[in-house]
Amino acid sequence: MSKIPTLDDFNFKGKTVLVRPDFNVPIDPATKEIVDDTRIRAHAETIRELCEKGAKVVVVAHQGRPGEPDYVESLKGHAERLGEVLGKTVKYVDDLFGEEAKKTIRGLKPGEVLVLKNVRSFPGETKRRSPQEHAKSEFVRELAPLIDVFVLDAFSVAHRSHASIVGFAPLKPVCAGRVMERELKALSKVLESPEKPMVCILGGAKAEKAVGIIGYMLSKGVADKILTGGLVAQLFLMAKGVELGDVNVEILKRKGLYDLAPEAKKLLDEYGEMIKTPVDVALDFDGKRVEVKVSELPSEKPVSDIGSETADLYVNALSGANSILVSGPLGVYEKEAFIEGTRRVFEAVAASGAYTVAGGGDTAAVLKKLGLYDRFSYVSLAGGAFIEYIRGAKLPGVEVLLGRL
Ligand code: 3PG
Repeated sequence: MSKIPTLDDFNFKGKTVLVRPDFNVPIDPATKEIVDDTRIRAHAETIRELCEKGAKVVVVAHQGRPGEPDYVESLKGHAERLGEVLGKTVKYVDDLFGEEAKKTIRGLKPGEVLVLKNVRSFPGETKRRSPQEHAKSEFVRELAPLIDVFVLDAFSVAHRSHASIVGFAPLKPVCAGRVMERELKALSKVLESPEKPMVCILGGAKAEKAVGIIGYMLSKGVADKILTGGLVAQLFLMAKGVELGDVNVEILKRKGLYDLAPEAKKLLDEYGEMIKTPVDVALDFDGKRVEVKVSELPSEKPVSDIGSETADLYVNALSGANSILVSGPLGVYEKEAFIEGTRRVFEAVAASGAYTVAGGGDTAAVLKKLGLYDRFSYVSLAGGAFIEYIRGAKLPGVEVLLGRL
């Protein structure tokens, strides 16, 4: 990773700093209460450092998408939670770039923090536009004159070319916050210069990006071995000609994965044994776990986990690895009967002594459920952005920090 500017490169004393963290957290749809504040806690580190350096900190963030159950327009609750973490009062205005917001920003004193209203209440925020186009939006035009530096801390939103991610870069000096810096450091350690052998474990239900990830990892020589689970495994088993059974094929079709079989087959033809698929699976017999060999498929019961023999093979495949990247659980981890494969393999990852990075989708949640979160070298806060990054995509937010957009 080329050098990106960080908090170390600026003097923040007396400066007004606009920080873009990712405060998009799980929310109880009924009470709208925050149920997991991991992201707020992480970004508090950047905000605390800026306060200690004498900055006047303005926070712009989002929660959910308009129309979805976890959307809230007011970020008052987030501001309060941030205040609890920082141990001081955090101001909040229910305004984004109107007179109230601007007046409050002008009145900030060094060390004070102000959170603005959900940036997705501004319809122009999520338009897919270039930084230069976003810089002309009302939101950026109104706020930019009031700020001295823009700090982008939201790696987990860096795959979005949104106004609050890329729009200030053409007008203001930009740098990465501590979370962004840490995410990029951990990911470049496994993607750019991994200590070999490097093993990548890919599972989860959102497997549509798996083909791209595997293609990238193997063609660039990043990974030496890929272990598949979840729907990724089913896609590759199907590509190998295994008949999974109608119920499983239907799931693959519903998730838009069925048509990816030819691409998966191409990867198997090219990389063969470097891509491992299960030799046995656990079927869901009305909640009961029943293991069968892959050669015994098809089944009219859903494949819901890797089997014990596969778990043994995967655990063995990890021995000697010096870097391991994990994305996605290997089975339906939400059901106790089908968490076993994920538990066995992820425990082996945690105990491996390798440099271990996890991220994407439900990965952090499953690590927390298994009590393994703190035993990985690094757990990314990102879902979609992590997936994009590990398939070699250029993220707009990272590109603006590199000065490439
Ligand atoms: C996330 O939770 O992955 C980020 O906050 C991005 O959210 P989005 O998918 O709604 O853009």
